[in-house]
Amino acid sequence: VDRILIGDSCEVLVDRGVSGGLLPERTDREKAAILTQPGARAVATGLAASMGVEHLIVDLPDREEAKTLDTVGLVYDRLAEFNLGRHDTVVGVGGGAVTDVAGFVAATWLRGVESVLVPTTMLGAVDAAIGGKTGINVGGKNLVGAFWHPSRVVVDLDVLDRLPGAIRLEGDAEALKTGLIGDPEIVTEYERSGGRASLDVIVPRSIAVKAAVVDEDFRESGRRAILNFGHTIGHAVEIATGLPHGFAVSVGMVAAGLVSERRYGFDHSWLSHLVFAIGLPVAAAGVSVDTCRELIARDKKRSAEGIRMVLLRAVGDPVLDTVTDEELDVALRSIGAE
Ligand SMILES: NC(=O)c1ccc[n+]([C@@H]2O[C@H](COP(=O)([O-])OP(=O)(O)OC[C@H]3O[C@@H](n4cnc5c(N)ncnc54)[C@H](O)[C@@H]3O)[C@@H](O)[C@H]2O)c1
Repeated sequence: VDRILIGDSCEVLVDRGVSGGLLPERTDREKAAILTQPGARAVATGLAASMGVEHLIVDLPDREEAKTLDTVGLVYDRLAEFNLGRHDTVVGVGGGAVTDVAGFVAATWLRGVESVLVPTTMLGAVDAAIGGKTGINVGGKNLVGAFWHPSRVVVDLDVLDRLPGAIRLEGDAEALKTGLIGDPEIVTEYERSGGRASLDVIVPRSIAVKAAVVDEDFRESGRRAILNFGHTIGHAVEIATGLPHGFAVSVGMVAAGLVSERRYGFDHSWLSHLVFAIGLPVAAAGVSVDTCRELIARDKKRSAEGIRMVLLRAVGDPVLDTVTDEELDVALRSIGAE
């Protein structure tokens, strides 16, 4: 078991074949409400059986459909019927959509109850369930939310090993990102394995990188921004093309790699080959340069001098810089924008 602490109230456990002992020891807990989604229902059912307290399973709609105020309202109704009390626990079993909703519900139910998260996607395990941010979509993505740390996050690598290819790959993009900004060993593991990195190596290490950054900067005043490597251009590409988030981020990392090469001599073509070897996209051919520019400008990452972007001086050495319009243009064209 790998055990990673975030602050003094949240522990992340990474193991294989998680079953009993999911909830932290506590004598005053009587009930647990388990929120889950279609792709994680079997895992949730298995965990419920060994929960050791009275439980209720709440099935959320799949993916982003779960992250609405309507769904959250329906969950509150179920918790009221179930009589979930202030010493009870909300458990989220699923991908990032479920852990976001479970965290938000826990933060707001009775002004805050304990949450325990069991991420069942790789993106959930290395990113969404780590760091205490929760988000609900209202018009825009994640516009409503709260900071609320779970008391425990439990990652079962056996579950992640069985993920369908595309869902695994989206998580690989975020794991590679954490390696590039904070842990060269993760990057070496991707290189060594020809793109099929061992989860036993990369998952606990990726979590440790995010945990360290979050510990340093709980409210996102500075350091946490380095987690956005690949996300400035990636987010624009995601909206402009509809590519899944992780795929768009990998394109964004390649683009940021080129700006990093021009400024700091970072090896852009090495990164591009590595991203390709993993099976992630390195380009978004045909996307409009103007559309991307507008989306980036709208994304609030612009200061008076230009667009703020995370660049790499080297693997493990990120820096938050302001890039010029010319650099942004070159980066966008390098990923096939026209
Ligand atoms: N709070 C944060 O800090 C943070 C960070 C990153 C992302 N997020 C959020 O996370 C969400 C994306 O997370 P995601 O990619 O996990 O999406 P998701 O929760 O929508 O899950 C993606 C799909 O995987 C399925 N699935 C889940 N577990 C599975 C399993 N074990 N086997 C097979 N299928 C399974 C789900 O049913 C769903 O169809 C977004 O809403 C994003 O905003 C939040």
